[in-house]
Amino acid sequence: MNEVILKEAADIIMNSEYFIALTGAGVSKESNIPTFRGEDGLWRNYDAMELATPSAFARNPSLVWEWYAWRQGLIGNCEPNPAHKTLSSWENRGILKTLITQNVDGLHIRAGSVNVLEVHGDLWALKCTSCDYRERLSSPVSGIPTCPKCNSHLRPDVVWFGESLNPQIMRKVYSELELADVCIVIGTSALVQPAASFPLIVRQHGGRIIEINIEKTIISSVVDVHISGKAGEILPALNELLQ
Ligand code: APR
Ligand code: ZN
Repeated sequence: MNEVILKEAADIIMNSEYFIALTGAGVSKESNIPTFRGEDGLWRNYDAMELATPSAFARNPSLVWEWYAWRQGLIGNCEPNPAHKTLSSWENRGILKTLITQNVDGLHIRAGSVNVLEVHGDLWALKCTSCDYRERLSSPVSGIPTCPKCNSHLRPDVVWFGESLNPQIMRKVYSELELADVCIVIGTSALVQPAASFPLIVRQHGGRIIEINIEKTIISSVVDVHISGKAGEILPALNELLQ
């Protein structure tokens, strides 16, 4: 681990006025949750267009539910890792103001983070395909759940490809991005909009960007500090340098 780069990132964080984080699937890798696009990524083994789109659900709700139930089972057996725990401790110490995550695994909240904006939804939340009924599961679903109010199919309350993000959450996200003078971007390929542009918005008004990733991404060329490594190792090491 490059101590000089870590020290540079720690200095930026310690001198920040409004420090926020953006995370992707890589932050949960040390919790043994597969990413989407890595060598063992979900989209390598499953067809996203067959599983994570409104038309896929309309065409074959039981296949889509089978896949989400499998992911719920996988995630249900996973624990927050040191990356999640470090971010939660930074919020407790007043260092980190807000955590924006693309992940639906709920591990940031299970690690104790409170000010979390889940822009792609929550794997454990269900919503009715017809009325406003919603519920939250604590164990994996079985079969196709139906709405107790109108008997329509319930679907995962996650953002599928081609769907828009929750406007209330997005209003909060954009106001946080405007306030932020430092944004740490952890474990995302920065390929999916609008989240991929969030760090660029911070940068546009003069904010600094720190990136933690095991490899370079399409935003690496515009970040102030790129720390190469595993989130579950880099974040605790970075934490050591924050008095
Ligand atoms: N530590 C840090 N970064 C890691 C680690 C790790 N241990 N392991 C993998 N990574 C990095 C990869 O290099 C990659 O850049 O995490 C990133 C994971 O990228 P994706 O699999 O594309 O996941 P993400 O960026 O979160 O995807 C965004 O796409 O499929 C949709 O809705 C889904 O929220 C998801 C969105
Ligand atoms: Zn209903």
